Amino acid sequence: MLFDAMPEQIVILDFGSQYTQVIARRVRECNVYSTILPFDTPAAEIAALRPSGLILSGGPASVYSKGAPLPDRGVFGLGIPVLGICYGVQLLAHFLGGKVEKGQKREFGRGTLRVLDAQSPLFAGLPRELQVWNSHGDKLTRLPKDFVAAATTENSDYAVIVHRTKPMLGLQFHPEVAHTPRGREILANFVHGICGCGKEWTMRSFVDRAVDDVRAQVGGERVILGLSGGVDSSVAAALLHRAIGDQLTCIFVNNGLLRAREADVVREVFGRHFKIRLRYEDATDLFLRRLKGVSDPERKRKIIGRTFIEVFDAATRKVGKAKFLAQGTLYPDVIESVPIAGNPAALIKSHHNVGGLPKRMKFKLVEPLRCLFKDEVRMLGQELGLPREIVHRQPFPGPGLAVRCLGPISGHKLEILRRADAIVVEEMKAADLYYKTWQTFAVLLPVKSVGVMGDERTYDETICVRAVESQDGMTADWVKLPYELLEKIASRVVNEVKGVNRCVYDITSKPPGTIEWE
Ligand code: XMP
Repeated sequence: MLFDAMPEQIVILDFGSQYTQVIARRVRECNVYSTILPFDTPAAEIAALRPSGLILSGGPASVYSKGAPLPDRGVFGLGIPVLGICYGVQLLAHFLGGKVEKGQKREFGRGTLRVLDAQSPLFAGLPRELQVWNSHGDKLTRLPKDFVAAATTENSDYAVIVHRTKPMLGLQFHPEVAHTPRGREILANFVHGICGCGKEWTMRSFVDRAVDDVRAQVGGERVILGLSGGVDSSVAAALLHRAIGDQLTCIFVNNGLLRAREADVVREVFGRHFKIRLRYEDATDLFLRRLKGVSDPERKRKIIGRTFIEVFDAATRKVGKAKFLAQGTLYPDVIESVPIAGNPAALIKSHHNVGGLPKRMKFKLVEPLRCLFKDEVRMLGQELGLPREIVHRQPFPGPGLAVRCLGPISGHKLEILRRADAIVVEEMKAADLYYKTWQTFAVLLPVKSVGVMGDERTYDETICVRAVESQDGMTADWVKLPYELLEKIASRVVNEVKGVNRCVYDITSKPPGTIEWE
């Protein structure tokens, strides 16, 4: 389900910029739906969507180099507003009679934009000087036919270009990134002021459409959903329940590797509050038996993945005849990536995909979140009345505490880790920092050390605290937590968790470290 028929949408052609998805999100923040399409999508296909405007993204290539990604020439004749960003502006020049050359020096970083044409709707409500962020090597050296310069920067006479009569514009800088502080307003001016879009795209309006879509797809059939308690599956469950009520059955597998109270929260929220049909499968013993003595992280992951499928498969058979399987697939998973050399976005792939379910499970898929970005999924969760604890849940790895309990796992060790982790989370919440960090958790190290408690010598376990900031989990920075907070966590962990006599803080960033320890 992608909203091809959204009455108002902006199409973004992707030329391989690492910011293409950011452009799409910024447009949606203006309450306008946006779709990302590959750069070579035929103009007729784009026209069929009846978009209100077109954005040409940036990209790592040079328009004049061999094999450069070029759009169908027809996109310039669709009669809708076109905005070229960075490489996109060079495409305007390349196709419409301007000239692009290699710049003397690469323009990278902040610059000051001086607006020449304050009347342009692109600059409505904005001052005549703006801070902008650049990242380009090539330069426009001759304007395309009938274009004029509407703004300059220190390094470029053609930082913004506009067509004299048609709604065609080009920006040499990146309005979508945070380093262009008023870039959102520039994009808003494009989508509202120039493309004439209203503000139809809201999560409230999405719910109505999605409910209709799901009902139309599913009819009177039964749907099964694997509920992990994570944001995506939880929001999918709430949405599907709104649409089809008791036709939905959720299966929650307790693999014995969950954090404190996790299974309880899921049962409280979905079972008791939402009254969703929920099958709770406690497979703790099976998982722990199979993991006994296993210390290699990849073997742990494989065993957990395989066992999950087995347990889930058996549970689906107990539900009865279901035709559909629902999944919390998000938009970034379905955007066709553009394999352009030098595009870091093409290299960055979610390396931890949880593998999915085997093909022999013959279900049809229902993916009600397919066109949403993560931040929209959280807004949707809020709209559907899910508690903060779930909507703003931190990412948690599929193999759970198994990859935070280093070396061989045992029920006893997991219990120690669970208690220490609960203290870390509690103190982070009390300090109002929990929801401001990407991930915060405890790790049980395979190290015993000597300590002294009262008059006694101890020889006990070590807990490591990890708190990281990140945008997407691909890179991360350790968080400079206040000393007082670290002290409090360490003191509580050592005093309250029996079997632990030492607490350390991980100050490694990613790269070179990873977020998890295994
Ligand atoms: P690393 O440790 O590679 O983790 O820096 C990056 C992000 O991925 C999560 N992670 C996993 N998620 N299955 C998952 O579903 C896994 O096996 C797995 N390993 C790591 C990690 O928590 C972080 O958010």
